Amino acid sequence: PLQFAVFGHPIAHSLSPPIHQAFARQFGIELAYRTIDAPPSTFADAVKHFFDHEGGRGANVTLPHKAAAFALADEHTQAAARVGTANVLTRRPDGGLVAHNTDGAGMVRDLTERHGIDLRGHDTLMLGAGGAARGVAWSLFDAGVATLTIVNRTPAAADALADAIGEPARVHTRYWEELGNIGSYDLIVNATSAGTLGQSFTLPFSLAASRALCYDLGYGKSAVGFLAWARAANALYAYDGLGMLIETAADAFELWHGKRPDTEPVYQSLRAQGS
Ligand code: ATR
Repeated sequence: PLQFAVFGHPIAHSLSPPIHQAFARQFGIELAYRTIDAPPSTFADAVKHFFDHEGGRGANVTLPHKAAAFALADEHTQAAARVGTANVLTRRPDGGLVAHNTDGAGMVRDLTERHGIDLRGHDTLMLGAGGAARGVAWSLFDAGVATLTIVNRTPAAADALADAIGEPARVHTRYWEELGNIGSYDLIVNATSAGTLGQSFTLPFSLAASRALCYDLGYGKSAVGFLAWARAANALYAYDGLGMLIETAADAFELWHGKRPDTEPVYQSLRAQGS
C-alpha cells in the first residue's frame, strides 16, 4: 500500500493514523499510515529515509519538528513561508520535498464551517506566542478578525510575533500581568502549551465579552482547564481543537490523494469514542 507517516516526539498517542484510515475508507483507498518517533537530532535523516528508501508518499509533522520540517524542504507554500513551519510534507516527482502549513486554515474551517461562526470583525485575544500561536495568527486575519491582541508570559515572544505579522494598526501586545484590565474579547484563543505540560493559570472573567467564543488549540486533557474557565466566564462557545486536527488532516489527505474527505463523520466518531 501507499506509505504515509506522522513524525513527532513523542507521537505514540497521535490520532492521525485512525483519522487518515477513516478518510481512506471513504474512497476505498488502501494506505499504510504510521507514527515515527524521532528525536530532534535524527529528524531530518528519518524524513529523508522515509521518502527515499521506504516509499514515503507524504508525511505529517508535529511537535517539536514543525520548524525543522520547514527548513529541510526544497519548496514552501505561501502559507508555510509566512509562518515558517510546516505540518505537511509532499514529494515532487523529482524527489524534492514541499513544505505546507495547513494549521491556520484548519482552525478557521473548524470554526466557520463546523461551528458556523463568522469571525469577521472579532476582537481577538491570543494567549501564548509560541509555535502554535504563530501557526494560526495569519489565518485569523484571512478570516476577517478586526484586531489581534497577543499576550504571552514572556513578553519578548509576543512582540516578536506581532512584528512578524507586521500589521501595527491591528496587532497589539500586552503583558500577562495586565490581563485584568485590558477589556474584553469576542474570540479568545488558548495557544499556550500549559495544558499539555500539566500546568494551569488563572484568567480574569472580564476577558470574555458577552458573546465570547473561546477556542483551545489543543484537545483532550490539555484543553480541559481553559474550557472550564470559558464556561465559568459565561462564554457563549467553548471549543477544543479536535475539529482543527481533523480539518488539517483533511488538507493533508487532499494534497496526497487529490480527494477531499468528509470530515464530519470522523469528527462525530472520535467524539463518540471520548476524544
Ligand atoms: P507550542 O508549539 O505548543 O506553541 P512553544 O512554541 O514552546 O509550544 O510555545 C509554548 C507557549 O505556551 C509559549 O507562549 C509559552 O509562554 P513562554 O513564551 O512564556 O514560555 C506558553 N506557556 C507554556 N506554559 C505556560 C504557562 N504555565 N503559563 C502561561 N503560558 C505558558
